[in-house]
Amino acid sequence: MSMKKADVIIIGSGVAALQLCKHLCTDKNVILFTKTSFGDGNSALAQGGIAAAMGDKDHPYFHFVDTVIAGRSLNDHASTLRMTQEAPAIIEELARRGCNFDRSEDNVFALGKEGAHHQNRIVHGGGDQTGKVLINHLKATVPDNIQVFEYHFVFQLLLNENNSCQGVRSKDRQGIIHECYAPDTILATGGCGQVYSFTSNACSVTGDGMALAYQAGATLTDMEFIQFHPTLLYINGQPKGLISEAVRGAGAILIDGRKQPIMDDIHPLKDLAPRHIVSQTIFQKRQASHDVYLDIRMIDDFQDKFPGITNLCVSNGINVAEGLIPVVPGCHFSMGGVETDTLGRTTIQGLYAIGEVACTGVHGANRLASNSLLEGLVYGKRLAQHLNEKEPVLLEEEENKSVQLPAFPFPLPSRKRMQELMMANVGIIRHKDSLLQQLEWLESYHVEQWHTFDMSMLTTEQMTTVFMAQTAWLITKSAFEREESRGGHHRSDFPEEQMTWQNRQIIQQRTFEMG
Ligand code: SIN
Repeated sequence: MSMKKADVIIIGSGVAALQLCKHLCTDKNVILFTKTSFGDGNSALAQGGIAAAMGDKDHPYFHFVDTVIAGRSLNDHASTLRMTQEAPAIIEELARRGCNFDRSEDNVFALGKEGAHHQNRIVHGGGDQTGKVLINHLKATVPDNIQVFEYHFVFQLLLNENNSCQGVRSKDRQGIIHECYAPDTILATGGCGQVYSFTSNACSVTGDGMALAYQAGATLTDMEFIQFHPTLLYINGQPKGLISEAVRGAGAILIDGRKQPIMDDIHPLKDLAPRHIVSQTIFQKRQASHDVYLDIRMIDDFQDKFPGITNLCVSNGINVAEGLIPVVPGCHFSMGGVETDTLGRTTIQGLYAIGEVACTGVHGANRLASNSLLEGLVYGKRLAQHLNEKEPVLLEEEENKSVQLPAFPFPLPSRKRMQELMMANVGIIRHKDSLLQQLEWLESYHVEQWHTFDMSMLTTEQMTTVFMAQTAWLITKSAFEREESRGGHHRSDFPEEQMTWQNRQIIQQRTFEMG
């Protein structure tokens, strides 16, 4: 086993992690662990863009209002307003430092439109490859004081006698265990899309940070709110990748197999209605054995505007010139996660969470399109400023209160089966019976007791399954408890929003055993 010390440990290498790296003082000794290659993950896959009130007729307050309406008012209003106010300066700063966003002929930002936005306010790069443009830009700005350890799987947060976080335990590709100690540890591990069989998410997005935080005893909030993106490319019964909402923003409409528009009578914003409404509509059509297509025939120069999506279609045998793209909804984003304050502090001293793994309250019950890269940028920078100003703390590694835990119990659930059951039982439309069935299935593996076992002998593949199942269990428990429908949580047995749930959040936190 190797042992390292740092001032700051970062887990993950998406937009929030890289923005944090960029803004941390260069005299800090920072160690970044990523379980795959540096910069891999959902951020680099993002298509649509970054929402910011940059247009002449726009204002951060309008952006705030759209965000809260999409979030069904479960948002933390002060945090949401602050994020929308900080957005234009974040974009200007990135552009000033060379991030190559798309511009119109008169050299102003080309602003796209997406679902539930009442203004064109989506800043984008490379047409539909904003994530790639942003991540490449941020990677190039990462200073030399950041030591990156690729293919290191963090499987445990180390706590001291006072339950403060003082580092992490990881396993590398050779199976060697490492301990790293620091006064400040940051979870920037992304969400949990792979918990579902249909997802837009990268293979590496498996709920790790949520499970790590739960095991350590941090509070998690809003886990029932899962956003299903309406349009994943659908080929031979399988989802094949995201078709950005920007395509509907550019005029595409959803039609059924008889070429009839499906959103006209559903919502005043029609095809650009909030995502949960569009996803539920497509889901119900597909359940009733109807085909659903994105009709792009009215978009001029589609291939130039959406080069990434064109490639995705072509590589899956779809000719975009014919103008019909078969689509299906899939898990896209977790609104819930590790509860934090406006600086990214969790309920555990020394542990922070930024980006999708966090629940900062800015998304409420359903995230507004293109607010996720924005959240990562805003909170990554804010946390860097906080850590830069903080008094240095000296750590003694002997403080780690690791106790000998019993070996991990087998068998583990089949990952494929778990993903399919989550989709069927805790997916776009849920019901008390399906949720109970899923809880029983997960608990038949004793998921609820897993935090009391030693994971160090597991392979990283097995560790991933453990984290996925624990995250799936937290989502299912929360979905079972919330007896209403709101945003990304729809219960067919409680199909309406309930005033009594308006200000209630479901918290998940493990109990600490005495003695
Ligand atoms: C999309 O391009 O449709 C996804 C953007 C987002 O989730 O914010």
